Amino acid sequence: MSKQGPVLGLEASCDETAAALLAPDGTILAEAVLSQEEEHAPYGGVVPEIAARSHLAHLPHLAEQVLSRAGVSWQELGGVAATSGPGLIGGLIVAAGVGKGIAMARNLPFVAVNHLEGHALTARLPGLVEGGVAFPYLLLLLSGGHCQCVAVEGLGRYRKLGGTLDDAVGEAFDKSAKLLGLPWPGGPHLERLAAKGVAGRVPLPRPMIGREGCDFSFSGLKTAVAQAVARLPEEGEAREQGKADIAASFQASVTATLADRAAHALAMLPGATALVVAGGVAANQGVRAALTRVAASRRVPLIAPPIRLCTDNAVMIAWAGLERLRAGLTDEVGHAPRPRWPLEELVRA
Ligand code: KG4
Ligand code: ZN
Repeated sequence: MSKQGPVLGLEASCDETAAALLAPDGTILAEAVLSQEEEHAPYGGVVPEIAARSHLAHLPHLAEQVLSRAGVSWQELGGVAATSGPGLIGGLIVAAGVGKGIAMARNLPFVAVNHLEGHALTARLPGLVEGGVAFPYLLLLLSGGHCQCVAVEGLGRYRKLGGTLDDAVGEAFDKSAKLLGLPWPGGPHLERLAAKGVAGRVPLPRPMIGREGCDFSFSGLKTAVAQAVARLPEEGEAREQGKADIAASFQASVTATLADRAAHALAMLPGATALVVAGGVAANQGVRAALTRVAASRRVPLIAPPIRLCTDNAVMIAWAGLERLRAGLTDEVGHAPRPRWPLEELVRA
């Protein structure tokens, strides 16, 4: 019973509260994101209870805001898509609850969107790549909570080629940045500090390079950073330069590892039409440059959506919802949010 009309997308699975409205052809009519970064920063990481309460306080209002900004009334909506996993359960309950409430009140189709599918399908948003990205393609998801290589073979058809054995890459950035005395979230701060250092001065491991497959592992690198920091002089200019050198070495190790893993993953999916990167770490210029070189050597384009669509947002949720609605894949309002929800467990279209 899907209706023609704009689709409302809702996201609240981690520390971004977001709503977006997409026209039936995928045109973005309005989008809004509220970051909770300042609320969590004093604790050096996301506090689930604070996140859930903040989502609850802001999501209904954001939903209203995108509709009014787009000049679309509740009656005109064609469907509602809400992130229903994986993620922090409190936020998932808020997104799914608000979404289902709207769907029930307006008798609209509801789509329980898998957050990872949202990241995976973003590259197919109209207007991002001329002519659209065709299946199959390789997705490298590099965020604070997720770190995996996925073969995107069709809507609802995902094959995980590799993932992290311990920390996610963004988590490695954040933990190493913390060891260097930088604020949370540390990725962008570490990247800036690295620009002042010399990578070769502090030898750090380059995890997993040359290993078969495309799994990742970053906890050893983080331990090596801790040891290097412990060897720094107590204070003074030498300490500051030493920190910058460690940051530069860390950045070099991570980019080399990601490039190696991406090359392996592309070899595992010979028909890939593109290498797509998503997640906050995709904002890193060094990472982008390294992945651009890997993609070029395999003669496929690197598709890195604009940063606001790489990090958590509701446009990707509305778009995944739209793709599912078009395929007739809707969910019951009884669908329970799933904190753990691997991509492979999705319904095939
Ligand atoms: O995708 P995202 O916004 O949120 C989730 O984790 O879901 O990713 C945030 C992660 C954080 O770990 C942050 O430190 C990292 O992305 N990040 C970066 C950069 N910008 C954000 N890491 C390295 N370099 C950056 N420029
Ligand atoms: Zn995400």
